[in-house]
Amino acid sequence: MFNSFRPISLLLSQPFVHFQGENPKKPGAPNTVRLYSIASTRYGDSFDGRTASLCVRRAVYYDPETGKEDPSKKGICSNFLCDSKPGDKIQITGPSGKIMLLPEDDPNATHIMIGTGTGVAPFRGYLRRMFMEDVPSFKFGGLAWLFLGVANTDSLLYDEEFTNYLQQYPENFRYDKALSREQKNKSGGKMYVQDRIEEYSDEIFKLLDDGAHIYFCGLKGMMLGIQDTLKRVAEQRGESWDQKLSQLKKNKQWHVEVY
Ligand code: A2P
Repeated sequence: MFNSFRPISLLLSQPFVHFQGENPKKPGAPNTVRLYSIASTRYGDSFDGRTASLCVRRAVYYDPETGKEDPSKKGICSNFLCDSKPGDKIQITGPSGKIMLLPEDDPNATHIMIGTGTGVAPFRGYLRRMFMEDVPSFKFGGLAWLFLGVANTDSLLYDEEFTNYLQQYPENFRYDKALSREQKNKSGGKMYVQDRIEEYSDEIFKLLDDGAHIYFCGLKGMMLGIQDTLKRVAEQRGESWDQKLSQLKKNKQWHVEVY
Protein backbone atom coordinates (compact mmCIF):
# COMPACT_ATOMS: atom_id res chain seq x y z
CA MET A 1 0.00 0.00 0.00
CA PHE A 2 1.26 3.44 -0.82
CA ASN A 3 0.44 7.05 -0.21
CA SER A 4 1.48 10.61 -1.05
CA PHE A 5 2.85 11.82 -4.36
CA ARG A 6 5.62 14.29 -4.63
CA PRO A 7 7.02 15.93 -7.74
CA ILE A 8 10.81 16.25 -7.50
CA SER A 9 13.13 18.25 -9.74
CA LEU A 10 16.64 17.00 -10.30
CA LEU A 11 19.68 17.97 -12.31
CA LEU A 12 19.78 16.08 -15.60
CA SER A 13 17.29 15.26 -18.28
CA GLN A 14 16.14 12.37 -20.50
CA PRO A 15 13.64 9.60 -20.13
CA PHE A 16 15.12 7.16 -17.64
CA VAL A 17 17.32 7.45 -14.59
CA HIS A 18 19.38 5.01 -12.58
CA PHE A 19 19.10 6.10 -8.99
CA GLN A 20 21.39 5.72 -6.06
CA GLY A 21 21.27 6.70 -2.41
CA GLU A 22 22.63 5.27 0.81
CA ASN A 23 21.16 1.92 1.66
CA PRO A 24 19.53 2.32 5.11
CA LYS A 25 19.85 -1.40 5.70
CA LYS A 26 23.58 -1.35 4.93
CA PRO A 27 25.03 1.97 6.14
CA GLY A 28 27.83 3.19 3.90
CA ALA A 29 26.75 0.98 1.02
CA PRO A 30 24.94 2.38 -1.97
CA ASN A 31 21.43 1.34 -2.78
CA THR A 32 20.88 -0.82 -5.76
CA VAL A 33 19.87 1.30 -8.74
CA ARG A 34 16.24 2.13 -9.32
CA LEU A 35 14.64 3.17 -12.56
CA TYR A 36 12.22 6.08 -12.79
CA SER A 37 10.57 7.52 -15.86
CA ILE A 38 11.16 11.22 -16.28
CA ALA A 39 8.14 13.48 -16.33
CA SER A 40 9.76 16.39 -18.18
CA THR A 41 11.40 17.00 -21.54
CA ARG A 42 15.08 17.63 -22.13
CA TYR A 43 14.49 21.32 -21.37
CA GLY A 44 13.17 20.59 -17.88
CA ASP A 45 10.32 22.37 -16.19
CA SER A 46 12.25 25.63 -16.00
CA PHE A 47 13.22 25.46 -19.69
CA ASP A 48 16.94 25.82 -18.98
CA GLY A 49 17.90 22.20 -19.61
CA ARG A 50 19.24 21.83 -16.06
CA THR A 51 16.47 19.95 -14.33
CA ALA A 52 14.40 16.84 -14.80
CA SER A 53 11.17 16.00 -13.00
CA LEU A 54 10.13 12.69 -11.56
CA CYS A 55 6.74 11.61 -10.35
CA VAL A 56 7.45 9.57 -7.22
CA ARG A 57 4.97 7.75 -5.07
CA ARG A 58 6.01 7.12 -1.49
CA ALA A 59 5.73 3.37 -0.90
CA VAL A 60 4.36 2.59 2.53
CA TYR A 61 3.56 -0.94 3.67
CA TYR A 62 0.56 -1.79 5.82
CA ASP A 63 0.39 -5.21 7.41
CA PRO A 64 -2.76 -6.79 5.91
CA GLU A 65 -3.59 -8.53 9.21
CA THR A 66 -3.11 -5.73 11.69
CA GLY A 67 -3.74 -2.88 9.27
CA LYS A 68 -0.76 -1.13 10.86
CA GLU A 69 2.08 0.49 9.00
CA ASP A 70 5.28 -1.58 9.00
CA PRO A 71 8.21 0.83 8.43
CA SER A 72 10.68 -2.04 7.96
CA LYS A 73 8.96 -2.86 4.69
CA LYS A 74 8.58 0.64 3.32
CA GLY A 75 9.95 1.44 -0.14
CA ILE A 76 13.58 2.46 0.29
CA CYS A 77 14.16 4.65 -2.74
CA SER A 78 10.74 6.28 -2.90
CA ASN A 79 10.97 7.26 0.80
CA PHE A 80 14.55 8.43 0.35
CA LEU A 81 13.44 10.68 -2.51
CA CYS A 82 10.26 11.90 -0.85
CA ASP A 83 12.18 12.75 2.33
CA SER A 84 14.95 14.62 0.50
CA LYS A 85 15.19 18.36 1.05
CA PRO A 86 16.00 21.10 -1.45
CA GLY A 87 19.79 21.25 -1.77
CA ASP A 88 20.37 17.59 -0.86
CA LYS A 89 22.75 15.82 -3.21
CA ILE A 90 21.33 12.80 -4.98
CA GLN A 91 23.44 10.69 -7.26
CA ILE A 92 21.85 9.75 -10.54
CA THR A 93 23.11 8.16 -13.73
CA GLY A 94 21.53 7.27 -17.04
CA PRO A 95 19.50 7.62 -19.13
CA SER A 96 18.81 4.14 -20.37
CA GLY A 97 16.22 2.77 -22.77
CA LYS A 98 14.74 4.31 -25.89
CA ILE A 99 11.36 2.65 -26.14
CA MET A 100 9.53 5.57 -24.53
CA LEU A 101 11.25 8.34 -26.45
CA LEU A 102 8.66 10.38 -28.30
CA PRO A 103 9.18 9.87 -32.05
CA GLU A 104 9.39 13.38 -33.48
CA ASP A 105 9.83 12.54 -37.15
CA ASP A 106 6.18 13.31 -37.93
CA PRO A 107 4.77 16.28 -35.98
CA ASN A 108 1.28 15.38 -37.23
CA ALA A 109 1.28 11.82 -35.90
CA THR A 110 -1.26 10.36 -33.47
CA HIS A 111 -0.05 9.27 -30.03
CA ILE A 112 -2.32 7.16 -27.85
CA MET A 113 -1.00 7.09 -24.28
CA ILE A 114 -2.23 4.68 -21.65
CA GLY A 115 -1.01 5.11 -18.10
CA THR A 116 -1.82 4.01 -14.58
CA GLY A 117 -0.76 6.02 -11.53
CA THR A 118 2.77 7.39 -11.72
CA GLY A 119 2.97 5.74 -15.15
CA VAL A 120 1.66 9.10 -16.34
CA ALA A 121 5.26 10.42 -16.04
CA PRO A 122 6.52 10.07 -19.63
CA PHE A 123 3.20 11.29 -21.02
CA ARG A 124 3.39 14.43 -18.95
CA GLY A 125 6.74 15.07 -20.67
CA TYR A 126 5.34 14.34 -24.14
CA LEU A 127 2.40 16.68 -23.56
CA ARG A 128 4.65 19.51 -22.41
CA ARG A 129 6.67 19.02 -25.55
CA MET A 130 3.55 19.08 -27.70
CA PHE A 131 1.55 21.84 -26.05
CA MET A 132 3.69 23.92 -23.74
CA GLU A 133 7.18 24.27 -25.17
CA ASP A 134 7.99 26.46 -28.10
CA VAL A 135 10.38 24.24 -30.06
CA PRO A 136 10.93 25.37 -33.68
CA SER A 137 11.86 21.84 -34.79
CA PHE A 138 8.64 20.33 -33.41
CA LYS A 139 5.34 22.07 -33.99
CA PHE A 140 2.80 19.49 -32.97
CA GLY A 141 -0.25 19.31 -35.20
CA GLY A 142 -1.31 15.72 -34.61
CA LEU A 143 -3.50 14.06 -32.01
CA ALA A 144 -2.45 13.13 -28.47
CA TRP A 145 -4.94 10.98 -26.59
CA LEU A 146 -4.30 10.20 -22.94
CA PHE A 147 -6.05 7.46 -20.99
CA LEU A 148 -5.20 7.79 -17.32
CA GLY A 149 -6.15 5.23 -14.68
CA VAL A 150 -6.08 6.24 -11.01
CA ALA A 151 -8.06 5.29 -7.92
CA ASN A 152 -10.13 8.47 -7.55
CA THR A 153 -10.32 12.17 -8.37
CA ASP A 154 -7.96 13.03 -5.51
CA SER A 155 -5.23 10.84 -6.93
CA LEU A 156 -5.28 12.37 -10.41
CA LEU A 157 -1.83 13.60 -11.38
CA TYR A 158 -1.10 16.78 -13.38
CA ASP A 159 -4.86 17.08 -13.95
CA GLU A 160 -4.82 20.87 -14.10
CA GLU A 161 -2.09 20.86 -16.72
CA PHE A 162 -3.96 18.33 -18.85
CA THR A 163 -7.29 20.11 -18.48
CA ASN A 164 -5.62 23.31 -19.68
CA TYR A 165 -4.34 21.57 -22.81
CA LEU A 166 -7.85 20.30 -23.41
CA GLN A 167 -9.18 23.84 -23.32
CA GLN A 168 -6.39 25.28 -25.45
CA TYR A 169 -6.02 22.49 -28.00
CA PRO A 170 -9.38 20.72 -28.28
CA GLU A 171 -8.54 19.53 -31.81
CA ASN A 172 -5.23 17.99 -30.78
CA PHE A 173 -5.78 16.55 -27.33
CA ARG A 174 -8.15 14.03 -25.80
CA TYR A 175 -8.10 13.05 -22.15
CA ASP A 176 -10.06 10.13 -20.71
CA LYS A 177 -9.88 9.06 -17.10
CA ALA A 178 -10.58 5.71 -15.51
CA LEU A 179 -11.28 6.28 -11.81
CA SER A 180 -11.27 2.73 -10.50
CA ARG A 181 -12.76 3.44 -7.10
CA GLU A 182 -15.21 6.10 -8.20
CA GLN A 183 -16.55 4.79 -11.50
CA LYS A 184 -17.95 1.42 -12.59
CA ASN A 185 -17.37 -0.36 -15.88
CA LYS A 186 -20.29 -1.70 -17.89
CA SER A 187 -20.27 -4.99 -15.95
CA GLY A 188 -20.44 -3.15 -12.64
CA GLY A 189 -16.76 -3.76 -11.80
CA LYS A 190 -13.96 -1.23 -11.28
CA MET A 191 -13.38 1.18 -14.12
CA TYR A 192 -9.89 0.44 -15.47
CA VAL A 193 -8.04 1.89 -18.45
CA GLN A 194 -8.83 -1.25 -20.46
CA ASP A 195 -12.55 -0.51 -20.03
CA ARG A 196 -12.02 2.94 -21.49
CA ILE A 197 -10.02 1.40 -24.34
CA GLU A 198 -12.92 -0.93 -25.06
CA GLU A 199 -15.33 2.00 -25.05
CA TYR A 200 -13.31 3.74 -27.78
CA SER A 201 -12.03 0.61 -29.50
CA ASP A 202 -13.36 1.38 -32.98
CA GLU A 203 -11.61 4.73 -33.05
CA ILE A 204 -8.44 3.31 -31.51
CA PHE A 205 -8.24 0.47 -34.02
CA LYS A 206 -8.80 2.89 -36.90
CA LEU A 207 -6.06 5.20 -35.61
CA LEU A 208 -3.67 2.28 -35.20
CA ASP A 209 -4.43 1.13 -38.75
CA ASP A 210 -3.56 4.66 -39.86
CA GLY A 211 -0.17 4.48 -38.13
CA ALA A 212 -0.81 5.84 -34.62
CA HIS A 213 1.75 5.17 -31.89
CA ILE A 214 0.42 3.52 -28.74
CA TYR A 215 2.25 3.72 -25.40
CA PHE A 216 1.70 1.95 -22.09
CA CYS A 217 3.31 2.98 -18.84
CA GLY A 218 2.51 1.93 -15.28
CA LEU A 219 1.46 -1.25 -13.55
CA LYS A 220 2.62 -4.46 -15.18
CA GLY A 221 -0.74 -6.01 -14.30
CA MET A 222 -2.60 -3.71 -16.67
CA MET A 223 -1.01 -5.26 -19.76
CA LEU A 224 -2.81 -8.55 -19.31
CA GLY A 225 -6.20 -6.88 -19.08
CA ILE A 226 -5.40 -4.56 -21.97
CA GLN A 227 -4.21 -7.36 -24.23
CA ASP A 228 -7.35 -9.38 -23.40
CA THR A 229 -9.51 -6.40 -24.28
CA LEU A 230 -7.67 -5.69 -27.52
CA LYS A 231 -7.82 -9.35 -28.50
CA ARG A 232 -11.54 -9.52 -27.83
CA VAL A 233 -12.18 -6.35 -29.80
CA ALA A 234 -10.03 -7.60 -32.70
CA GLU A 235 -11.98 -10.88 -32.78
CA GLN A 236 -15.29 -9.02 -32.82
CA ARG A 237 -13.97 -7.11 -35.80
CA GLY A 238 -12.92 -10.35 -37.51
CA GLU A 239 -9.22 -9.51 -37.16
CA SER A 240 -6.35 -11.51 -35.67
CA TRP A 241 -4.88 -9.66 -32.68
CA ASP A 242 -1.65 -11.65 -32.84
CA GLN A 243 -1.07 -10.58 -36.42
CA LYS A 244 -2.02 -7.01 -35.65
CA LEU A 245 0.28 -6.87 -32.65
CA SER A 246 3.27 -8.21 -34.53
CA GLN A 247 2.60 -5.65 -37.27
CA LEU A 248 2.42 -2.84 -34.69
CA LYS A 249 5.70 -3.99 -33.16
CA LYS A 250 7.33 -4.29 -36.57
CA ASN A 251 6.20 -0.77 -37.47
CA LYS A 252 7.56 0.53 -34.13
CA GLN A 253 4.07 1.76 -33.16
CA TRP A 254 3.94 -0.29 -29.91
CA HIS A 255 5.75 1.13 -26.85
CA VAL A 256 5.57 -0.54 -23.44
CA GLU A 257 7.22 0.43 -20.15
CA VAL A 258 5.62 -1.34 -17.21
CA TYR A 259 6.88 -2.32 -13.77
P1 A2P B 1 -7.24 -0.16 -7.99
O1 A2P B 1 -6.05 0.07 -7.09
O2 A2P B 1 -8.48 0.55 -7.54
O3 A2P B 1 -7.53 -1.61 -8.23
P2 A2P B 1 -1.69 2.60 -8.46
O4 A2P B 1 -2.19 3.83 -7.80
O5 A2P B 1 -1.58 1.41 -7.57
O6 A2P B 1 -0.46 2.84 -9.25
O7 A2P B 1 -2.82 2.22 -9.50
C1 A2P B 1 -3.25 3.14 -10.47
C2 A2P B 1 -4.57 2.67 -11.01
O8 A2P B 1 -4.42 1.43 -11.71
C3 A2P B 1 -5.60 2.42 -9.90
O9 A2P B 1 -6.81 2.98 -10.34
C4 A2P B 1 -5.66 0.92 -9.83
O10 A2P B 1 -6.92 0.45 -9.41
C5 A2P B 1 -5.47 0.58 -11.30
N1 A2P B 1 -5.14 -0.84 -11.50
C6 A2P B 1 -4.73 -1.76 -10.59
N2 A2P B 1 -4.58 -2.97 -11.17
C7 A2P B 1 -4.88 -2.80 -12.48
C8 A2P B 1 -4.95 -3.70 -13.60
N3 A2P B 1 -4.64 -5.00 -13.49
N4 A2P B 1 -5.32 -3.19 -14.78
C9 A2P B 1 -5.63 -1.88 -14.91
N5 A2P B 1 -5.61 -0.99 -13.90
C10 A2P B 1 -5.23 -1.45 -12.69
